[in-house]
Amino acid sequence: MRIVLVGPPGAGKGTQAAYLARNLEIPHISTGDLFRANISQGTPLGVEAKSYMDAGNLVPDSVTIRMAEDRMEQADAAGGFLLDGFPRNLGQAEALDTYLKGKGISLDAVLDLEVPEDEVVKRIAGRRICRKNSAHVFHAEYSKPKTEGVCDVCGGELYQRDDDHEDTVRKRLEVYHSETEPIIDYYKAQELVVTIPALGKVEEVTQRAMSALGRGE
Ligand code: AP5
Repeated sequence: MRIVLVGPPGAGKGTQAAYLARNLEIPHISTGDLFRANISQGTPLGVEAKSYMDAGNLVPDSVTIRMAEDRMEQADAAGGFLLDGFPRNLGQAEALDTYLKGKGISLDAVLDLEVPEDEVVKRIAGRRICRKNSAHVFHAEYSKPKTEGVCDVCGGELYQRDDDHEDTVRKRLEVYHSETEPIIDYYKAQELVVTIPALGKVEEVTQRAMSALGRGE
């Protein structure tokens, strides 16, 4: 399956993607995680991306599209993938369509995680991620690690993302409404969008998403 996950910052895309990718046996491709890996390795791409991310802005398409395509070219993505955080504007959505068409493949679904804005703010304020692997995500209240400050999965240190501070979060939400929301209509025109109510326990949301994909119990 080839799936796109969309939703505001803090909606739970990364959290859901981890479960869905495991259940569907496809790789989870998060452009945010790819940028964060580059930042922690100090690559030129990471240095460039960090200034945009810390300001709550999108990293330029020229950089982002190539990085996403390179990742989709890897062998583990040949049978399908779950895209999290990409595409994030109309230019990226069109570039993805062109890329897929060139390969003779297409998307199966776009899952739109719907969460009220006050909940999103609470989720982001309590989020803690692992320094060794930013796909390992916890929450100070909703999804506590067994030992405070330590990742359950790999023992890495948990920290608050630089772009999770209040001003930056406000900017990211603004960018989401202006740049990213229009892709939902773009995909609605292709009859690909399924709206998933994303309030409730993580497992409940996963079940809703799996059912929407025709893989429910
Ligand atoms: P990115 O990393 O993609 O961030 P985002 O889209 O802002 O999304 P978040 O990671 O903030 O939230 P999420 O929806 O994954 O929520 P999570 O599962 O962590 O992008 C960061 C930046 O990178 C962008 O601002 C941009 O600069 C750049 N970038 C990335 N992609 C780009 C692109 N394509 N083009 C240009 N620039 C790009 O959950 C949040 C918290 O809630 C966690 O603590 C979690 O434990 C908790 N939680 C999750 N589900 C539940 C639940 N059901 N109940 C209670 N708590 C829950």
